[in-house]
Amino acid sequence: MRIIKAKDYADMSRKAANIIAAQVILKPDCVLGLATGSTPIGTYKELIKGYENGDLDFSLVKTANLDEYRGLPKSNDQSYDYFMKDNLFNHININFENLNIPNGENPDAEAECARYEAVVKALGGQDLQLLGMGHNGHIGFNEPADEFVKETHCVDLQESTIQANKRFFEKVEDVPTQAYTMGINTIMQAKKILVIVSGADKAEIVKKAFFGPVTPQVPASILQMHPDVVVVVDEAAGSLI
Ligand code: F6R
Repeated sequence: MRIIKAKDYADMSRKAANIIAAQVILKPDCVLGLATGSTPIGTYKELIKGYENGDLDFSLVKTANLDEYRGLPKSNDQSYDYFMKDNLFNHININFENLNIPNGENPDAEAECARYEAVVKALGGQDLQLLGMGHNGHIGFNEPADEFVKETHCVDLQESTIQANKRFFEKVEDVPTQAYTMGINTIMQAKKILVIVSGADKAEIVKKAFFGPVTPQVPASILQMHPDVVVVVDEAAGSLI
């Protein structure tokens, strides 16, 4: 595991975007695993700049997103489908047929999770998986638990995650309570993993996840076992390491 300390959020975003850009330049038809949340927004802005200035061509890139709320229509501006279009896909020359996100509109959790797991496998896995990390160490929506769940599955979101996400909804009752998420194996099969973490409020979990014991109680700690992980933290998130 390589840990890169960036100065601040902007610096973290540029460094992360440069790593993704290198992947796209080296393998134009690569599979990018992508994340939502506030952390990658700056990274996506930098990738858009790279496309606009002619450095990056996404026409052959395929993507697989980590997760999606169950029961939220794609047209809802809080769906991850909407987020990805709004923050990245609508602004680059990606082929919309090459985009994959769990379908939150499919109420049949078992069928949808099996479908999505097969989609990621059929892509040959992710060449590069981008991850953010929750305050409790969750990756995707793999929440702290007694064991790692391997494949794409439906999860009940923890109260702390619902509380953290409520800022995006009018009231807490509107926050979805379940999500479809890649499992730990689905994430770990990526050839390369890039984790980005920003802010003093994540300093404690950064220390626990990357320097503490590997345990399903801190899902991101499993990344210590992956052969090719780069973590880019800003100064605040990296202040305890
Ligand atoms: C998003 C995702 C989540 C977030 C995590 C951090 O697709 O899977 O695991 O990466 O909740 O979110 P932010 O970046 O908003 O702090």
